[in-house]
Amino acid sequence: MPSDGPPRDASRARVRAPGRVNLIGDHTDYTGGLVFPMAIDRATTIEFEPVGHTVELSSDAAGGDVCIPLPVDGDPATVEPPWGRYVAAMASELGATSGLRGRITSDIPAGAGLSSSAALECAVALALGFDGTAVELAQAAQRAEHAATGVPTGIMDQLCISAATAGHAVLIDCHTLDVQYVPVPDDLDVVVQFVAHRTLVGSAYADRVAECARAEQALGPLRSASVDDVADVAARAALDPMAVRRARHVVTENARVMAFAEAIAAGDHVDAGRLMTASHRSLRDDFDTSTPAMDAAVERAAATPGVFGARMTGGGFGGCIVAIAEPGTPTGGWRVRPVRGVHRL
Ligand code: GLA
Repeated sequence: MPSDGPPRDASRARVRAPGRVNLIGDHTDYTGGLVFPMAIDRATTIEFEPVGHTVELSSDAAGGDVCIPLPVDGDPATVEPPWGRYVAAMASELGATSGLRGRITSDIPAGAGLSSSAALECAVALALGFDGTAVELAQAAQRAEHAATGVPTGIMDQLCISAATAGHAVLIDCHTLDVQYVPVPDDLDVVVQFVAHRTLVGSAYADRVAECARAEQALGPLRSASVDDVADVAARAALDPMAVRRARHVVTENARVMAFAEAIAAGDHVDAGRLMTASHRSLRDDFDTSTPAMDAAVERAAATPGVFGARMTGGGFGGCIVAIAEPGTPTGGWRVRPVRGVHRL
């Protein structure tokens, strides 16, 4: 079997979980909407041996070691160093009693909106022997994320990382949790550009979730609302103007995700790019999750010859932008390729 690393001890097992970039469909997952991410060729790998009744992990990327006695007792959100919270929360979620000792390596930048935490959760789950479907893994990892951070995130990141298949982006209906695989064309570069570190802990992410819930009290499920429905509640003043804008983003973003997936499948890169840029404007103007630095990066990228479109990606308030471009276009970012989801090596 070809090896993609240095020679290693055959008694040790390895699991690998990729990061993800969201091509379009942000802040739609927690209202059961549509998202269109892809797993990328940046990953977190755990090399380990099953041993004892503790999870002992060191990390090349983050400081400190963690040593978590099993079964997990106490609040995972208080574990130090902080990356250990995801490990403890996942072990707790699985009710793990058999431990492991190992080492984490990762080239997913943390705090960049590329789902390093969801990758860690999914990798830890497999290392601890998780046995179930991709959806079950994503749901367990989402609960672990909530326990570790207290942020009420949706399921996009974990489901992309658990379910992705090589060469494809993943169209997810976050209500049914149905997944459709859409090939990413070879004649299209997907480019990611880092803008600024951020954390969703203590950000306005939870406020956005609450604002969408408020909109749903007036409109019913946003996933089945139309732009006319949103205009109607606004005209009747049945919903405050801020929640109207949040609802308008979600409703129009769901429509853009479908149109984008169709454009990508049809090879219409120009229309796909137009939809990405429209998505960015909606996140900037209606959802208030962009920043001036992200806006500037998107504008620069979108104005570059060969670039079809660009947008902020993920939770926002910093992180990365994503662009699609003709192959080889110099964009200042790095090209990412669609890879398979979490797996044992
Ligand atoms: C973060 C969350 C996801 C999703 C995005 C925004 O990545 O973890 O669930 O809500 O933000 O689309």
